Amino acid sequence: MASVPSLPLHQIRPLAEPPSLRLPDRNREDWSRDACALVFPDYRDVEAWTAFRDASVSLAQRRLPADLSEALHDFFAPAGPSALIVENLPVDPELPPIPADGMRPRNKQAVSEAVICGLIGMRGEILAYLNEKHGAPIQEVVPISGMERIQSNAGRVRFGFHSDNAFLPRRFRQKGILLFGLRNHDAATLVLTADQIMGAAPSDLAASLAKPIFRHACPASFSFSGAPAVSAPCPILWRDELGLVRVSAASSSIEPLTPEAAEALTSFRTLLMALEPARIVVRPGTALLFKDDRVLHGRDSFAGSRWLQRAYFTDSLDPLRKATRSGPLTFAFDAGALLSA
Ligand SMILES: [Fe+2]
Repeated sequence: MASVPSLPLHQIRPLAEPPSLRLPDRNREDWSRDACALVFPDYRDVEAWTAFRDASVSLAQRRLPADLSEALHDFFAPAGPSALIVENLPVDPELPPIPADGMRPRNKQAVSEAVICGLIGMRGEILAYLNEKHGAPIQEVVPISGMERIQSNAGRVRFGFHSDNAFLPRRFRQKGILLFGLRNHDAATLVLTADQIMGAAPSDLAASLAKPIFRHACPASFSFSGAPAVSAPCPILWRDELGLVRVSAASSSIEPLTPEAAEALTSFRTLLMALEPARIVVRPGTALLFKDDRVLHGRDSFAGSRWLQRAYFTDSLDPLRKATRSGPLTFAFDAGALLSA
């Protein structure tokens, strides 16, 4: 049944680096100066957060040249590229030391947050989950003392290929992730596309992975009271109505629901090990955007310093607000309520 024969060399090919664009120095300097005038709000005040988001979008619209705006427009389109890199973006001129507790330093300027909000807010919406990092819309990704050996964004060990929040229903899950570099010595983010995986999967394996015979468990970074959260039965690798290949695989654990699923899951993991991902060191001033169900991502182990910021995005928050009976400005949602909605 689902087997992984030795792959021909042409199927192990590394992903070509995602398209990469560079902001001109002059635009970076002007954008940075403007963003220094913004103050990061208490994001629990949704009106203050919305005002910051709107101001950030205005700055981005003013400072992004036409080719970069077009690239972002293409990326956010449903059938657009799976990933995009934007380099030479503004970073806070006076960046505080890396926060060892993983919390945003109170004295940090708001430049990187303004850039993140601007890049996303022109075409999409930032969303967060209350069960993770206190529902912060922009989250600090740093190694945390005592958690270095955990496969999570707080660790230093190799983090295998996965999707974030695969346990949530697709309509309530982030469509993509933006990673922004503040400091990064040598930690590479790994990106493996769904097309790469489908192209290398034998047809019997692809057929098994497309069946709704898997359950995804909640990741370690979420805090839930009560029973562990798991997804409804769902596929791992499939083609959508547009013919695009989609992939979804939890980082924590995947429960196979049938003997066929168990065999396919083993073969799937073997296949991933044989494929060569793109390795992207998200350096200071670089934003890496990717669609979370068009690629799997992971991280090499690393020894040096690393401080990234992360934001989840989607095209509309209306389904989440409706499902949780939230207000029109709410952007952070209880994952437990979404699971039972
Ligand atoms: Fe992740």
